[in-house]
Amino acid sequence: MKKILVIGAGGQIGTELVLELRKRHGVNQVIAADVKEECTDALKDGPYVKMDVLDKEHVQEFIKKEQPEDVYLLAALLSATAEKHPEFAWKLNMEGLFTILDLAKEGHIKKIFWPSSIAVFGPTTPRVQTPQYTIMEPTTVYGISKLAGERWCEYYFNKFGVDVRSIRYPGLISYTSLPGGGTTDYAVDIFYHAKKSGEYTSFLTNDSALPMMYMEDAIRATIELMDAPKEQVKIRSSYNLAGISFTPEDLALAIKEIIPIFKIKYEPDFRQDIANSWPDSIDDSAAKQDWGWKEKYDLKAMVQTMLKNVDPSKLI
Ligand code: SER
Repeated sequence: MKKILVIGAGGQIGTELVLELRKRHGVNQVIAADVKEECTDALKDGPYVKMDVLDKEHVQEFIKKEQPEDVYLLAALLSATAEKHPEFAWKLNMEGLFTILDLAKEGHIKKIFWPSSIAVFGPTTPRVQTPQYTIMEPTTVYGISKLAGERWCEYYFNKFGVDVRSIRYPGLISYTSLPGGGTTDYAVDIFYHAKKSGEYTSFLTNDSALPMMYMEDAIRATIELMDAPKEQVKIRSSYNLAGISFTPEDLALAIKEIIPIFKIKYEPDFRQDIANSWPDSIDDSAAKQDWGWKEKYDLKAMVQTMLKNVDPSKLI
């Protein structure tokens, strides 16, 4: 039975990924690691280690001792927070990646998953059905760090044979744990407010279309990519992944079908500029072709599931 390490396990993706990996591989095989002292309640049933990915010595020592075959490196600052702390975001998003890539190069890890993002694209990228290979001139610190990371992943694969796999996640929508610091977070917040007060003020304009995906699809994509035979993983920078593209207005209308009194207002802030620089929709035919990717959730199914499951008492 192989061991798996998920770094950044307390985050929006990490929480659900650990739960799913534990279902598949056994609770004790999947070690959750996060910078927080205490393990989140959702992950308490299995092994947990406090780990700061910038503490290179600890990460090296732990991985050499535990010898996890697969490492998922999810610790990062997202787009909006990274704009507030550019130097720290660059440091966190890049140094952790090098530590893990080097450990794999030295033979201590067999397979790495590292997330990229739609943020690698920029205002000069074709916005609609953004192709896998296209102009990439990101204007955010987060996007610059993800694009640089993608280039390093491909470099370590070509040069040293490191088996690193990656997805350019769209905005991810989930109810188990809250997102933090992203530009796409409105599409999660809205459900909590819809249920709590029936009103929401969006920090993006009504017509800001962005690519999004329901978390269950994103987790399945991640695991399918990691399980795919090596030779099918032809792209070693990062795979485009589509899902559902919608605007705040589309989402509000879909919520109104279930909560007719729901009202939305628009008060765009600095995150609008970030959203304006990202694609409206994504072409993910390479993922479909190479490892058989197929999404399940459309807007209606996602909205129904979210409204059924969000717990508005989690809103502070
Ligand atoms: N959801 C992320 C963000 O908004 C995009 O990768 O920053």
